[in-house]
Amino acid sequence: MQIRISGSKPPASKAELTYGCIWMNRRTRKVRSGSVNFSLTKKLLLADQNPRLLSLAELYGFREKYRHWQEMGFEMAKTAAKTAPVPEGLTALMERHADALSSQLQAHHLKVFPPTSEKGIRTFAPSEASKLLGVGESYLRQTASEMPELNVSMSPGGRRTFSIEDIHAIRKHMDQVGRGNRRYLPHRRDGEQLQVISVMNFKGGSGKTTTAAHLAQYLAMRGYRILAIDLDPQASLSALFGSQPETDVGPNETLYGAIRYDEEQVPVEQVVRGTYIPDLHLIPGNLELMEFEHDTPRALMKRKEGDTLFYGRISQVIEDIADNYDVVVIDCPPQLGYLTLSALTAATSILVTVHPQMLDVMSMNQFLAMTSNLLREIENAGAQFKFNWMRYLITRFEPSDGPQNQMVGYLRSIFGENVLNFPMLKTTAVSDAGLTNQTLFEVERSQFTRSTYDRALEAMNAVNDEIESLIKKAWGRPT
Ligand SMILES: Nc1ncnc2c1ncn2[C@@H]1O[C@H](COP(=O)(O)OP(=O)(O)OP(=O)(O)O)[C@@H](O)[C@H]1O
Ligand SMILES: [Mg+2]
Repeated sequence: MQIRISGSKPPASKAELTYGCIWMNRRTRKVRSGSVNFSLTKKLLLADQNPRLLSLAELYGFREKYRHWQEMGFEMAKTAAKTAPVPEGLTALMERHADALSSQLQAHHLKVFPPTSEKGIRTFAPSEASKLLGVGESYLRQTASEMPELNVSMSPGGRRTFSIEDIHAIRKHMDQVGRGNRRYLPHRRDGEQLQVISVMNFKGGSGKTTTAAHLAQYLAMRGYRILAIDLDPQASLSALFGSQPETDVGPNETLYGAIRYDEEQVPVEQVVRGTYIPDLHLIPGNLELMEFEHDTPRALMKRKEGDTLFYGRISQVIEDIADNYDVVVIDCPPQLGYLTLSALTAATSILVTVHPQMLDVMSMNQFLAMTSNLLREIENAGAQFKFNWMRYLITRFEPSDGPQNQMVGYLRSIFGENVLNFPMLKTTAVSDAGLTNQTLFEVERSQFTRSTYDRALEAMNAVNDEIESLIKKAWGRPT
């Protein structure tokens, strides 16, 4: 359906009226539709509900005054046009809705991140930078002063602040000139196995993506070489890391490209991309990952001697690039399909995110039962696991909520040390940052009440620090 760009005149034909056409009376500046008069605001609000409103083009004449409403109204009207009820089948209906939503989302994304803007990590105060480097502030200051090439910026209060690139360069410098035999670059050494952490649970919204994103960024900021893999066709992790699944990720540019069964398969290096954090790489996701779920049953029927079966495929491609990384973090989809099973087989460690509420815990119970059944099957088929640890991470925890506390106590009594000591608190700092596809390490502290941001960051750092200890323990390093 076309959107009619109306002039200042009422619709010329009945058809236009039926399709919905609005125009503006230049004298009264009222928006009109049919014979009814509305105030602009009311009209635009109605545009949301009334699929017959199509064009707001005339409002361009009043751009300045109404710009905000106009943009919103115009977008709403376009969506309304696309979602207007016409007799059609389910397929066409869904196609049209997907289309409409997709253009809305792209418009939203353009507004939040115009093409000229670049995502990035915020800058760090000396106290934070020294914590990330694991040194005292005075040593940080001294080292920074030895590095004339550093372009350390100043905060408005005249304090030095360090960018993530500065911290990265300082760490390298310390490692080269550092005293004694202390190492500052924490890269893997001989005999230390690549750590592959799969974040999973089939309960949607349990905090998998939030956990995976913050963990990957935190570890990269601590100096590890990290590969984050988005295994979810919804691709929220990719969006958080600045790769929009619809516009920035083309065919064969997800992990599917590297694990597919046909001749279009590409080397895994081709699907890895850099991010705005040094040493944090990403294999993005998008809808094409679903193909793996469809291809696998066919591939199983046609399998030949020597084929890598579905459960071994992620493991195999990770091995191809293992030397480049210390830790791989995989964000799994909220379902127990072939992709998730393959991520389980590739994992050395499993992080199960759980929101401490009855329905979530019941769902996790099913997840555990089904997963263990399936694992037994693929183990019988020859899968080999490299398992180090599994931990439950309590997410979106509200300490003042009685039933949640009870549930956490309950989980700790059943699962003991398999529950991480530190829970991730529910906080508006995380959910608000998520609205603009950002993490806690990206948003500016000044956007929030100081205590809200600091509490959120403290909880997040405590969780990640505990996971880092588990990684070091797996390598046999002191924690
Ligand atoms: N600690 C937190 N405090 C507040 N909100 C949170 C927190 N963690 C996650 N959220 C919010 O909860 C929602 C779901 O989180 P997230 O996307 O991480 O879950 P998920 O398990 O990956 O979901 P899915 O199963 O759909 O992949 C998001 O809107 C996110 O911003
Ligand atoms: Mg997710």
